Amino acid sequence: MKAVCWQSANEVRVETVPDPTILNPRDAIIKITSTAICGSDLHIYGGYIPTVQKGDIIGHEFMGEVVEVGSGVNNLKIGVDAKRLLPGDRVVVPSTIGCGHCNYCQRDMWSLCDNSNTKGWMEEKLYGNITSAIYGYSHLLGGYAGAQAEYIRVPFADVGVVKVPPDLPDEMLLFISDAIPTGYMGAELCDIQPGDTVAVWGCGAVGQFAMISAYMMGAERVIAIDRFPERLEMARKFAKAETINYEDVDAGEALKEMTGGRGPDACIDAVGLEAHGVGLEDFYDQTKQKLRLETDRPHVLRQMMVAARKGGTLSIMGVYGGFVDKMPFGAAINKGLTFRMGQMHGQKYMHLLLNLILDGKLDPSFVVTHQLPLEQAPYGYEIFQQKKDNCIKVVLKP
Ligand SMILES: NC(=O)c1ccc[n+]([C@@H]2O[C@H](COP(=O)([O-])OP(=O)(O)OC[C@H]3O[C@@H](n4cnc5c(N)ncnc54)[C@H](O)[C@@H]3O)[C@@H](O)[C@H]2O)c1
Ligand SMILES: [Zn+2]
Ligand SMILES: [Zn+2]
Repeated sequence: MKAVCWQSANEVRVETVPDPTILNPRDAIIKITSTAICGSDLHIYGGYIPTVQKGDIIGHEFMGEVVEVGSGVNNLKIGVDAKRLLPGDRVVVPSTIGCGHCNYCQRDMWSLCDNSNTKGWMEEKLYGNITSAIYGYSHLLGGYAGAQAEYIRVPFADVGVVKVPPDLPDEMLLFISDAIPTGYMGAELCDIQPGDTVAVWGCGAVGQFAMISAYMMGAERVIAIDRFPERLEMARKFAKAETINYEDVDAGEALKEMTGGRGPDACIDAVGLEAHGVGLEDFYDQTKQKLRLETDRPHVLRQMMVAARKGGTLSIMGVYGGFVDKMPFGAAINKGLTFRMGQMHGQKYMHLLLNLILDGKLDPSFVVTHQLPLEQAPYGYEIFQQKKDNCIKVVLKP
């Protein structure tokens, strides 16, 4: 089959690789009909995620059709009138892999699964514990083949897919896999109270869904921060946010002004480790990152800590990989901030999000700006990384 294989920093290629096969009874094989490029894939593409090797198949946001089911895939909890998974079923698959049986999965904390990351010894050394595997997201996080391919092996298929109806287009359903639950969890972690103001850094797909979710959860105002006009425009039009272009004004100052000097009640980071900065601070972080003296550029984290109101909450969904520097921790402790964060728990949200879409309460397809054949993945990565051609979300069609 054809698959997108990482080569080296800023280079991917579409190569011919062996087809996946059933390895364990709880596996299923899915023929992929749509697979998106996520902001997290850009961190791999840019060479910022350790233990990605030349030739690894990347990608984790996907849906498709079941072609083969292992003998142990039963007792399904996979949604719309499904009792069994059968060849021909149409499914969306969350990006994090969870076993469904460990203490964390049972408590709906699927991205902390004890069992899916079988290469966890590496992560244990670095992070102190083993978290769940993610498709196509480094050997540190399990070394599973990714989803930017024609076919994929889905482990724990009895708990790790949601069956979706045949009549809606892929673009309405695909983002249940990753971007929507990430935005939704980002808002949920803010514990939004009626009347709250929520500021969201980053107007990519994750940021857009965080804004929409914040309103669903009772926020009175949502303020979006980015620098690309087309992304800010999308936030105004589809997520009904007020916007700040941080290249025109100082985002921290603007937030103070817009909230009567108080600061937002909650701040969501939908940017992550490749945050773009301005001025000397940007030069400092770019240089340290290039010299491998810090792994991540924490502009947004710093700004959120200073901008949030006293007693406010920071919800961090942007991905960080290692070490950050010059964090204003004095602000955090003295202002009594709450930090919440994590890789999203896809299986916790997939039914709820599917129902929002089926009930007509959410149409996520507005984020798609580019649909490309799988062969054009290298071009897709380039325009998404460099935000060329007003690119916000690329969907690849194998
Ligand atoms: N936690 C999870 O489970 C999970 C899941 C999916 C994605 N993510 C992460 O979410 C983040 C966003 O993903 P995406 O797909 O929306 O990516 P994206 O690249 O489309 O969006 C990132 C946005 O951040 C903006 N940005 C950069 N620096 C900024 C700054 N200083 N202030 C404000 N905005 C700034 C960029 O202009 C861009 O619009 C990534 O870090 C990704 O890895 C996390
Ligand atoms: Zn992702
Ligand atoms: Zn588990």
